[in-house]
Amino acid sequence: MRSENDGQNVESYFCIDSRLQKVSALAEELYLKGQDKVHNFAHALWDTSTGINIINNEVGYDVTLFIPAGLMHDTGITKGPYNKHMENGGILVRKHLPGLGFNQAEVEEIATAVKEHNGDEHTTNTSRILYDADTLNKAGVHGINEWLLYWSQFPTSAEKAAEESISYLDKLEKKGFYTETATRMNQEAGFDEVSGLVLTLKFWEEIGNLIKLEELTDSEALQRAKQSLGIENVL
Ligand SMILES: [Fe+2]
Ligand SMILES: [Fe+2]
Repeated sequence: MRSENDGQNVESYFCIDSRLQKVSALAEELYLKGQDKVHNFAHALWDTSTGINIINNEVGYDVTLFIPAGLMHDTGITKGPYNKHMENGGILVRKHLPGLGFNQAEVEEIATAVKEHNGDEHTTNTSRILYDADTLNKAGVHGINEWLLYWSQFPTSAEKAAEESISYLDKLEKKGFYTETATRMNQEAGFDEVSGLVLTLKFWEEIGNLIKLEELTDSEALQRAKQSLGIENVL
């Protein structure tokens, strides 16, 4: 389900700056080691490709700093527990990127973006683009698919998955995006007046309601939620 954004635009920058190809090879190797269903190289490419599309429609962002941040952002999962993956990703950037030709200021900007990507504060331009791209990854049909993958990786009851997802998505929806381009892309990821993030939120609210009101198994609730949002044919 990630084919709509397969990272071709990432590769097109390799001939402009050969360091980017080296970071890509490093990131791919690290994600392979991690064997994670969600936080893998395909996901990193999706975010990086999306971030490039945002930057190309905005002014003042440096794509050669963003690409390494996008590619490396979840590599921290290979170094320790998931709740430490942002911090560990920053450590991996500081360890490997000087050897690939990035100077100290560049390494700092990239490591900061990786360290902050899922947090509440984003202190640099690179960090803000990475946040926007990684948040779009959770929006709309593509985002629902990513959540379902995550759910299969960390199995829990539908009730608990819905509760946690709703509270997290609600926070993202309230925070919004840093760029106008990402705001527009979020709108396009939904249907009619419903934005992509709201669609993902509605999906989990529907599952939560179905589980509470009716005696359904988790997979029945999942199926019914897809039907009621009209997305059963695209998932
Ligand atoms: Fe992450
Ligand atoms: Fe991510």
